[in-house]
Amino acid sequence: MRRKLVAANWKMNGSSAANAQWLAAWRDVSAPCDVVVCAPFVYLPQVGAGLAGSGAELGAQNLSAQAPGAYTGEVAGEMLSDVGCRWVIVGHSERRALYGETNELVAGKAARAIALGLKPIACVGETLTERDAGRTLEVVAAQMAALLAQCPVEQLAFGALAYEPVWAIGTGRTATPAQAQEVHAAIREQLARADAQAAQRTRILYGGSVKPGNARELFAQPDIDGGLIGGASLVAAEFAAICAAAS
Ligand code: PGA
Repeated sequence: MRRKLVAANWKMNGSSAANAQWLAAWRDVSAPCDVVVCAPFVYLPQVGAGLAGSGAELGAQNLSAQAPGAYTGEVAGEMLSDVGCRWVIVGHSERRALYGETNELVAGKAARAIALGLKPIACVGETLTERDAGRTLEVVAAQMAALLAQCPVEQLAFGALAYEPVWAIGTGRTATPAQAQEVHAAIREQLARADAQAAQRTRILYGGSVKPGNARELFAQPDIDGGLIGGASLVAAEFAAICAAAS
């Protein structure tokens, strides 16, 4: 039985004051699932300190594929571990689309995270054009194949995967539970062809306009093991309500 995992992706949002409010509200929450909060780099120490003792773990939203050195503006996995991160998102569709991250680079980042003992949340998902062209499963399979080329399933199972249809992110348009389940099952089958046991252990999160009102039905699908939550994670009470739906 896979324990549900719900991760907050704050994206490029927050301030010292807003984070302090969020963390104060979170102190009263007891979530029935594993919880990760992925904050912007500069706020990781603040958020890590605020989460201490709450059971929720700290995550980042990206890391460099390189070891520390002359890479101006980049952040190394070693640094994330140093400030208390246990998790890191890799390959979010915003990084793929806006910063040109390729399947291979994303896989390299996942491999580097794993090598450092950081748990990657590796994101895959199709655009609306790809879905409308009937190419969803093919696109996701190619993204997964690139990950598997650099990270054995056993290692991916150490972290988590996230299926996030690009057309559902921040749009208020959620995949139906059946649409999401179809892709989650295909991802698990692909993992199982490489390692059936590790595939059963791997948590596959759904992301894309998850809200308190639709979370329960999504999380009830057999291959949906939790969620990666953007907009709704910015308000502690909403995020707590989504976590509660993962009971
Ligand atoms: P959203 O974002 O919940 O705001 O749709 C999800 C994500 O991008 O991780």
